[in-house]
Amino acid sequence: MARTAGDLLPKFTLSTKVGYFPGRDGGEHCLNPVRLRAAVERAADDLGREPDLVFLHNPEHSLRETTSHGRDMLAQACAALDNSVAKGLCAAWGVASWDPSPLLDLIDPTTPRPSVLMVRAGLLVGIGTLDAADALIKAWDLGNRTVWGMSPFGGSAGAPVWARIDPRVFLRDGSRFSRVQAAFRTAYHLPRVDSVAVGTDDPAHLGELVDALVGEFEERTIREYRGLLRDRSRDQPV
Ligand SMILES: NC(=O)c1ccc[n+]([C@@H]2O[C@H](COP(=O)([O-])OP(=O)(O)OC[C@H]3O[C@@H](n4cnc5c(N)ncnc54)[C@H](OP(=O)(O)O)[C@@H]3O)[C@@H](O)[C@H]2O)c1
Repeated sequence: MARTAGDLLPKFTLSTKVGYFPGRDGGEHCLNPVRLRAAVERAADDLGREPDLVFLHNPEHSLRETTSHGRDMLAQACAALDNSVAKGLCAAWGVASWDPSPLLDLIDPTTPRPSVLMVRAGLLVGIGTLDAADALIKAWDLGNRTVWGMSPFGGSAGAPVWARIDPRVFLRDGSRFSRVQAAFRTAYHLPRVDSVAVGTDDPAHLGELVDALVGEFEERTIREYRGLLRDRSRDQPV
């Protein structure tokens, strides 16, 4: 970005992630505070300016066991990012979690609190992950802090599942929107998030998604959908 559009960078809000490093099998997650701090410094160097927001990437990968050690590791990683903000290396920090469930037992009132939590969002997210995300938002008391959603199409808007469902039922005036737009807009309510990180290489696609932001949710349908997800998870054999 800095190489191709360095002059435009001041006009954007820039967010990036640390905690996933090049490794022997492609990449490895790591919560070592020294490595995290160095990665934040490097992001600022590469961009030529401090990022507005730096996420800790999927910390649950390094914290499979709910032990006091895991609790310390998470707290120290969060403290490293907190410290990066204090040193002016980035304006704010957050936690991005693909599976927030393991984090629930690892935070307490002493764990440094992120400014933003980013979790998976949209119609492909299961009830367990939705519930865990809501519980983490509450436990971290994020209140007026921000929650972001990510990966609203589960990585591909062309996956067969999107041809089988019509997400326009989730919007009040659904016929004004395409299915892709409706799926994107619905992601703001599953779970409830303020922003959605979506991937696209096509400016026209991005425009289509931005146009979807005026869509209004059918609250009742979203509630019913969550109820159906919950019923189905109860019916599934363990
Ligand atoms: N923490 C994690 O483990 C993790 C994992 C995955 C993703 N993420 C985060 O989530 C963000 C987005 O996830 P993602 O890129 O994997 O998946 P995604 O946003 O769910 O889907 C991206 C796909 O949707 C297509 N798309 C977007 N808008 C479209 C439109 N209007 N019409 C048709 N197709 C459209 C894109 O194709 P085109 O390029 O053709 O538009 C692209 O193939 C990432 O940038 C990352 O920040 C995090």
